[in-house]
Amino acid sequence: MAFSPRAVVVASIAALLVAVVAEGYHGEFTASYYDKTCPDAQNIVRTVMERSVAANPRMAPAILRLFFHDCFVNGCDASVLLNSTDSMPSEKDELPNASLAGFDVVDKIKEELEKKCPATVSCADVLALASRDAVAMLGGPNWSVLLGRKDSLYVAKNATEELPDPKGDLEQLRDMFGKHGLDERDLTALSGAQSVGKAPSYNFRERIDGYGYDDIDPSYAAQLRRSCEPNCDEAAGVPFDQRTPMKFDTLYYQDLLAKRGLLATDQALYAQGSFAGELVLTYSRNQEAFFADFVTAMVKMGNILPEPWTPAEVRLKCSVANGRY
Ligand code: HEM
Ligand SMILES: *[C@@H]1O[C@H](CO)[C@@H](O)[C@H](O)[C@H]1NC(C)=O
Ligand SMILES: *[C@@H]1O[C@H](CO)[C@@H](O)[C@H](O)[C@H]1NC(C)=O
Ligand SMILES: *[C@@H]1O[C@H](CO)[C@@H](O)[C@H](O)[C@H]1NC(C)=O
Ligand SMILES: *[C@@H]1O[C@H](CO)[C@@H](O)[C@H](O)[C@H]1NC(C)=O
Repeated sequence: MAFSPRAVVVASIAALLVAVVAEGYHGEFTASYYDKTCPDAQNIVRTVMERSVAANPRMAPAILRLFFHDCFVNGCDASVLLNSTDSMPSEKDELPNASLAGFDVVDKIKEELEKKCPATVSCADVLALASRDAVAMLGGPNWSVLLGRKDSLYVAKNATEELPDPKGDLEQLRDMFGKHGLDERDLTALSGAQSVGKAPSYNFRERIDGYGYDDIDPSYAAQLRRSCEPNCDEAAGVPFDQRTPMKFDTLYYQDLLAKRGLLATDQALYAQGSFAGELVLTYSRNQEAFFADFVTAMVKMGNILPEPWTPAEVRLKCSVANGRY
């Protein structure tokens, strides 16, 4: 039986649509997603994370930040992990100042997963699991991660516009998080991730130079200025929380009470009369409240979906879309 060329074209388009929809993004994430297809997935992620963080503790905050960037830019689709191609610059190259790190660790985790369960666990889920493990390893809470994300085929456009400006104010933060379905409680709790890690000084230079900022403890500003003599060490950066820079705890919030927030956006959370300000006070005194809200907000952030109907896949290598190398 012969088919007309037209029928073949129509059938092919229909088949393609079904394939794309089947592989496309959906919102039904579950903790048991890989229980049958890759029962060891969570252990593999955890084992490689433990090894990598033991070798370089800085990888724990780096991975946590990668997940934030991934989810805010076009949803949690591992687009942040993609290398540039001839036609598409990646976030890594487009935002040279973003100083993202941890890509090697993600690649290593994925390599181990591919050995056990090929083409099964998405890179977006690897980031979700690895950042959960990073938080737990830093002394923070542990939680059950919902899984079933898919990976994008393309790098995201306009990545900068989706991410908060570290020099912004509370209004801008509310807007930015609100656009992603995260409320003021989520914003305040998620910012506590910056209880760990560090920032290069170009993110807060104006703040310590004393122009237009009165919400910073002058002795803290002076100390930060001294750390920049003769030049700021941008590669080393400055810890958000000087007392316990590698411990996930409430000192970040205690610092805000003392006007010792590093970024303008950190200090902005302690705005008088705001709900965020009330929460800062609560979290500074109550680690359980902070941890509980942080977990809720991480799950919400992990649920940010890409545009519906955009094609997706499970990448074989996290730095490159399938069929592109
Ligand atoms: C509220 C808006 C936020 C702003 C303006 C912001 C901005 C920044 C900036 C400028 C840095 C320094 C990065 C660098 O150049 O090395 C940084 C670091 C970091 N951020 Fe954020 N961030 C925000 C929210 C978040 C959220 C929601 C998370 C995770 C849940 C997060 C996790 C981190 C971590 C862990 C680091 C330290 C990274 C490292 O030491 O390698 N941030 N952030
Ligand atoms: C992506 O880029 C990184 C760093 O430039 C490189 O190590 C890696 O091999 C690249 N990935 C692929 C699949 O080429
Ligand atoms: C990027 O960082 C360099 C210093 O490393 C700084 O001179 C430059 O102004 C920064 N650019 C932006 C857009 O922040
Ligand atoms: C974290 O929680 C998950 C899910 O409840 C559990 O499977 C895992 O063993 C926990 N990890 C640690 C280090 O307690
Ligand atoms: C990127 O941002 C520019 C300027 O805001 C806008 O004109 C353009 O449509 C955006 N592109 C995409 C793909 O969203």
